[in-house]
Amino acid sequence: MQVEGSTALVTGGVSGLGFGVAERMVASGGSVVMMDINEDRGKKATQELGDRSRFIQCDVSSGDDVAAAVAGAAEAFGGIDVLINAAGVAPAQRMLSRDGSMFDLDLFKFTIGVNLIGMFDVIRNTAAVMAQNEPGENGERGVIVNVASIAAYEGQVGQAAYSASKGGVVGMTLPIARDLASVGIRVNTVAPGIMDTPLLAGAPQELKDSLAALHVFPKRLGTPADFAHLVQAIVENEMINGEVIRLDAATRMPPK
Ligand SMILES: NC(=O)c1ccc[n+]([C@@H]2O[C@H](COP(=O)([O-])OP(=O)(O)OC[C@H]3O[C@@H](n4cnc5c(N)ncnc54)[C@H](O)[C@@H]3O)[C@@H](O)[C@H]2O)c1
Repeated sequence: MQVEGSTALVTGGVSGLGFGVAERMVASGGSVVMMDINEDRGKKATQELGDRSRFIQCDVSSGDDVAAAVAGAAEAFGGIDVLINAAGVAPAQRMLSRDGSMFDLDLFKFTIGVNLIGMFDVIRNTAAVMAQNEPGENGERGVIVNVASIAAYEGQVGQAAYSASKGGVVGMTLPIARDLASVGIRVNTVAPGIMDTPLLAGAPQELKDSLAALHVFPKRLGTPADFAHLVQAIVENEMINGEVIRLDAATRMPPK
């Protein structure tokens, strides 16, 4: 699937990795619908990206929001060809705090609700829309790229909920790719390492340098542009399917 002339739906699309993809899709001749909970940034993002962009406010953990937003996205440019699932939250808490209090179960449910169940809901709604597309030359109707994290494999102290959610994303990639093969939709996941996004914007340079030092090579933080570059390659290479690709400069995270 070529990005040029296609329409991408990007959850978490107004910030960080998602916005990096939105920028690249538009720069490469595609159109983009950004679906995000953050309305302020949504308005700014469409001002920045221009006519071939739209914003739809949506909490991916709300079933009603997702159904309405995906329907709205399908109408915006007449269909959805590509879905990038980048919306996510990353709260941290230890299983037992120093004062002995337990991991807050509601925080665990919230994290799974947004990162895993919300993503699943967006995928099922969007797949139903993509299945209506006219197939391309080799029967392709759509491409889905999910965002996990290397925390799916090497979660650090405090990341039990986040790692469980991202491990779920890794685990569902292949079965969803198998399920959707019959309608010509490919499904892949990117597991980024440490990326310089608004999540880290407030961090002091020293912390950023120490995180970059964890990377084996190159010794710098990843960027939204690195991520968007990989996403475009996945979208445009029809042999990549059912795969999880680490984008992490050979990093294996230590316990903390
Ligand atoms: N930055 C990193 O180092 C890193 C590393 C690995 C994985 N990731 C993953 O990449 C994805 C993007 O993260 P980022 O670093 O760009 O962070 P970010 O905070 O810049 O972007 C995340 C976006 O998701 C949106 N969002 C949050 N909850 C939502 C909800 N319920 N419904 C809809 N939108 C919601 C936010 O408003 C925000 O725009 C996340 O899934 C994150 O877990 C990030």
